[in-house]
Amino acid sequence: MKGQDHQTLIVLDFGGQYKELIARVVRECKVHSIIIPGSTPVKELKKMNPIGIILTGGPYSVYDATAPHCEKELFDMNIPILGICYGMQLMAYTLGGTVSPCNVSEYGDTKVTVTKKNKILDCLGGETITLMSHTDYVSRLPEGFETCAVSRDCPTASMADEPRNLYAVQFHPEVERTKKGKKIIRSFLYDVCGAKGDYNMNDFIEAEVKRIREQVGDKHVVLGLSGGVDSSVTAAILAKAIPNQLTCIFVDHGMMRLNEGNEIEAAFKDRALNFVRVDAEDRFLKKLQGITEPEQKRKIIGEEFVRVFEEESSKYEGSFLAQGTIYPDVIESGANNSATIKSHHNVGGLPKETKFIGLVEPLRGLFKDEVRKLGKKLGLPDELVQRQPFPGPGLSVRCIGEITKEKLDLLRKADAIYREEINKAGLKYDQYFAVLTSMRSVGVMGDFRTYNYVLALRAVITSDFMTCEKARVPYPVLEKVTSRIVNEVQGIARVVYDLTGKPPATIEWE
Ligand code: XMP
Repeated sequence: MKGQDHQTLIVLDFGGQYKELIARVVRECKVHSIIIPGSTPVKELKKMNPIGIILTGGPYSVYDATAPHCEKELFDMNIPILGICYGMQLMAYTLGGTVSPCNVSEYGDTKVTVTKKNKILDCLGGETITLMSHTDYVSRLPEGFETCAVSRDCPTASMADEPRNLYAVQFHPEVERTKKGKKIIRSFLYDVCGAKGDYNMNDFIEAEVKRIREQVGDKHVVLGLSGGVDSSVTAAILAKAIPNQLTCIFVDHGMMRLNEGNEIEAAFKDRALNFVRVDAEDRFLKKLQGITEPEQKRKIIGEEFVRVFEEESSKYEGSFLAQGTIYPDVIESGANNSATIKSHHNVGGLPKETKFIGLVEPLRGLFKDEVRKLGKKLGLPDELVQRQPFPGPGLSVRCIGEITKEKLDLLRKADAIYREEINKAGLKYDQYFAVLTSMRSVGVMGDFRTYNYVLALRAVITSDFMTCEKARVPYPVLEKVTSRIVNEVQGIARVVYDLTGKPPATIEWE
């Protein structure tokens, strides 16, 4: 971390699943942080000159044979330390206290009462709701420590040795479910560690640009660009870091929304990168001919996508592969024991071909809202940065039954009208789109009978996209959209609105 002119907080990782959340809250408090293994020797830590250290939670008991420990000298560095969950137990154990199994383990929202105010708990008032998740607790405090908070089942929900600037909490202040958790971390940073708040997105960009340059050297980088937020922001930061050493391959599978391909191209044409648009519509449509089963459609598109990307990228042998992986992708890819509901594919899921000499993932530690902020700082247009999620297989999962160019064109027009009216009305939903059903219905236009498609509109509210509820789009907006679609899009006879939540439905129709 030499050469940085801002303060650094170290997050010492003992295997806790929330370590990135800690780093994120620290970033939100405008302090730079790095996550490093809990086993890092004290003499290395000293060289980094941190203003403070946070010990993460972890899945162990301090007495487990494989439990990660730390050197006792860690606590003699004269640097403020905050231990969280396992980090608290490790602090107590290392300094001569005792850790024991809980009489009653605590999982979930737990009321905690402050019994002794101090610099980090002052902000809580008397009581607060916290997230607890532990089966051990500190049963005897180390010398010099005092109990500062208790819960119904945990007599040491927090402890501190204030003169030595050592603090610990059994609950997780880094998660939103701990109501005032961010305030605790902020107090630790500002009132204990003496943070100046000298870190922001510009610093992130600067540090990442430097890191990318060091990693890549004079080699070339190939990025699969889908036009989604993550790959677009990855392209923008790479173009800044290694101008003219970057090729972005945009596979246009012909299932993008109206004008989307051109918008993506326009957003990148003035950047220092080689933008390659592979027009593969015919290839995809040919493969999809006669296919109606949703999983088969998804698989064909996923495979064809990889094939086109491989063909195109083979021209850049000896290059790095860049991916727009963000932190939630990293977590989700670790948890794969669940049943397959749908085979998702996206640009981030490309095979790690051996012909690439390495992987560049500049956004790996960031969350979606941070990626959007970064994109804005890098000068990407709002339409790109604020874009709602769009599935890798594109409109194919919104065009029920066999895919044809005619059906896709009908859907594109109707979907554009729907999005335009939602935007005009100033409505904000997490995802909203049109679906062309495979059903036809009888209607009348002028004096003639029509027999045309039924179109469904969907709008959902969700934060995690794992569940959702339907949005209550105002009737006047739905009426206007319906009227415009049946009048302006020849081939659509009827418009319906989908009121189903997830579960039992999914967000996309296929
Ligand atoms: P479902 O339909 O499973 O969708 O409720 C949940 C979220 O994921 C998006 N989605 C995809 N994203 N590749 C992606 O990158 C895919 O194959 C894919 N399928 C669905 C969907 O739009 C929603 O936001």
